[in-house]
Amino acid sequence: MLLGPNGCGKSTLLKVLGGLLEPDSGLLDTDQPSGFVFQNPDHQVVMPTVAADVAFGLGRYKMREAQVSEAVRSSLRLVNLEDFMYRATHTLSGGQRQRVAIAGVLAENPKLLLLDELTTFLDREDQFGVLEVVRNIASERRDVTAIWVTHRFEELQFADAASYMEDGRVVFTGTPEETKAYMRGLGAPV
Ligand SMILES: Nc1ncnc2c1ncn2[C@@H]1O[C@H](COP(=O)(O)OP(=O)(O)OP(=O)(O)O)[C@@H](O)[C@H]1O
Ligand SMILES: [Mg+2]
Repeated sequence: MLLGPNGCGKSTLLKVLGGLLEPDSGLLDTDQPSGFVFQNPDHQVVMPTVAADVAFGLGRYKMREAQVSEAVRSSLRLVNLEDFMYRATHTLSGGQRQRVAIAGVLAENPKLLLLDELTTFLDREDQFGVLEVVRNIASERRDVTAIWVTHRFEELQFADAASYMEDGRVVFTGTPEETKAYMRGLGAPV
């Protein structure tokens, strides 16, 4: 989990990690490929049905139809939406749509999941549902690392570790408990 004040560089770090932005200097060493999920699922969920949306990114690979449907099905299972394959995407809740966006990225087998403030627009139930899904992915696919940016401290309970950034740098990294203590020291209401 990645924390820090507005403008400290969280999204920039994620974009550099995901290869969406070239660093001006320095060296980058990450597990690739990576998948990016943005704050607003309306920008990422673009197809009329759930299955079509999750399959969308696979269009650029040479895959047989059976492989595509298997990838779609297993990705939807990981985000607890297997029964929603044929649902129209415009009928989904915000949290469901966010989980479809995650499934779409997962279908491409990323090693690194980059999630930028994906719970900002969600109510508490959807927020926790999405984070449980992220945990589920990290435990079922041991080769996948998820990094998510958030301003909501209660999400620490879903993290294995957290980093705090200031002025473009990571200034603290620790367990969720250590991070809570650090944030309290900064006067944050954790
Ligand atoms: N493409 C860009 N060109 C120049 N400066 C940029 C660009 N993108 C971001 N910045 C600047 O870099 C700094 C870090 O921005 P970034 O979006 O990474 O912050 P953030 O930590 O994600 O903030 P927030 O919590 O508001 O989303 C800010 O000062 C921002 O204005
Ligand atoms: Mg940001």
